[in-house]
Amino acid sequence: MLDKSPRPAAVNVPNDLAAHWMPFTANRAFKKAPRLLAGAKDMHYITVDGRKIIDAASGMWCTNAGHGRTQISSAIAKQAEALDYAPPFQFGIPQAFELASRIADLAPAGLDHVFFCNSGSEAADTALKIALAYHQINGQGSRTRLIGRERGYHGVGFGGTSVGGIVNNRKMFGTLLAGVDHLPATYDREKQAFTKGEPDYGVHFADELERLVNLHGATTIAAVIVEPMAGSTGVLPAPKGYLKRLREITQKHGILLIFDEVITGYGRLGYAFAAERYGVLPDMITFAKGITNGAAPMGGVIVRDTIHDAFMSGPEHVVELTHGYTYSAHPLACAAGLATLDIYRDEKLFERALKLEPKFADAVMTLKGQPNVVDIRTIGLTAGIDLASRPDLVGKRGFDALNSAFHDNDLMLRIAGDTLALTPPLIVSEEQIGEIVEKVAKVIRAVA
Ligand SMILES: Cc1ncc(COP(=O)(O)O)c(C=O)c1O
Repeated sequence: MLDKSPRPAAVNVPNDLAAHWMPFTANRAFKKAPRLLAGAKDMHYITVDGRKIIDAASGMWCTNAGHGRTQISSAIAKQAEALDYAPPFQFGIPQAFELASRIADLAPAGLDHVFFCNSGSEAADTALKIALAYHQINGQGSRTRLIGRERGYHGVGFGGTSVGGIVNNRKMFGTLLAGVDHLPATYDREKQAFTKGEPDYGVHFADELERLVNLHGATTIAAVIVEPMAGSTGVLPAPKGYLKRLREITQKHGILLIFDEVITGYGRLGYAFAAERYGVLPDMITFAKGITNGAAPMGGVIVRDTIHDAFMSGPEHVVELTHGYTYSAHPLACAAGLATLDIYRDEKLFERALKLEPKFADAVMTLKGQPNVVDIRTIGLTAGIDLASRPDLVGKRGFDALNSAFHDNDLMLRIAGDTLALTPPLIVSEEQIGEIVEKVAKVIRAVA
């Protein structure tokens, strides 16, 4: 029975924000000095006290077309009036088929089928399950092992957490999935510090896959999943040639290769997908975030024809893949996705990101020499700035920077420990890049 007795007075919470247990948030600190948002337009958020904050984070790598795009909000409103919800199992809506075709058109040739879900986490778990199921129906059921990468992030489902490699995200949750292994991270500060774009050093990190194949046996390995640019850990671009090498090794051993493009998809690296930037054809691409410009939850997996087609056998009344979500291809998300892709196309935002990349990189690199800056990495319209940790307080300088940015400098950035991540909407102007970098410099000095 529900306990209706009066609640004890909240302890250590000086306001009425207690009920909401916030995700991936330092809750107690937040509730003492809240960072509350009320509105957004183009490159800015508006705080509840009416301050205009420049968004150097695209919310959370989502709003590639900037905020408050009326084309998207009207499409969502119109769709909500016409059809609020439709069951995605055994029924469909035209918009889902149209959106899938448009995404397949943007993806490299051969990746022609789209499975929808609602988030990046669901996309990662979906891709891993498709890989396992594919091998099983293909007569290679011994291929059950999944390989991720240290410092990788693939969301918070059990699959994604298991193949993920950020220790703080794993250590609270027990043994996770069995039969998972990890490639090493591709980062070596000594050899790569202050690199613009893909580092020259590090293709050999891909060869570690051969070691794992030798250890476990190729016929036990189902798939390798990597982010083409590891984002959440603090922006680690793949070294030159690394992804190609991974493709060669996976292909040689019949292992599927999944690119998690939840961040890199839809223009962040100057192309629809990073697979195109690197000229590498994976077996699956996961996406989320930018597909709806963040305006409605949606994720998905783009799947190679050969994999999809392998499922399309047996009696036609039987469900081919026993997987999906109540909100897969939700009408509001499909409407948002179609409107978003129109904007990306009409405003040539992917091309814009590519053109701005060198200017963005030059601007961010001027922060070299600011106090405690030990590395800066840039790629596409994204940068990671590593600050030296405060002694015995890993993550505190980064957290202080988040607060200084928001409360004192009208700036939103993202942090990963003591790394500041900049990843502005692709509509950012050169002047605004300058403004962001100036504000970041102030923040870095404030937390020195
Ligand atoms: C590469 C990658 N995969 C998966 C996810 C998880 O996405 P979501 O938070 O939508 O579940 C993220 C989120 O940042 C991500 O960066």
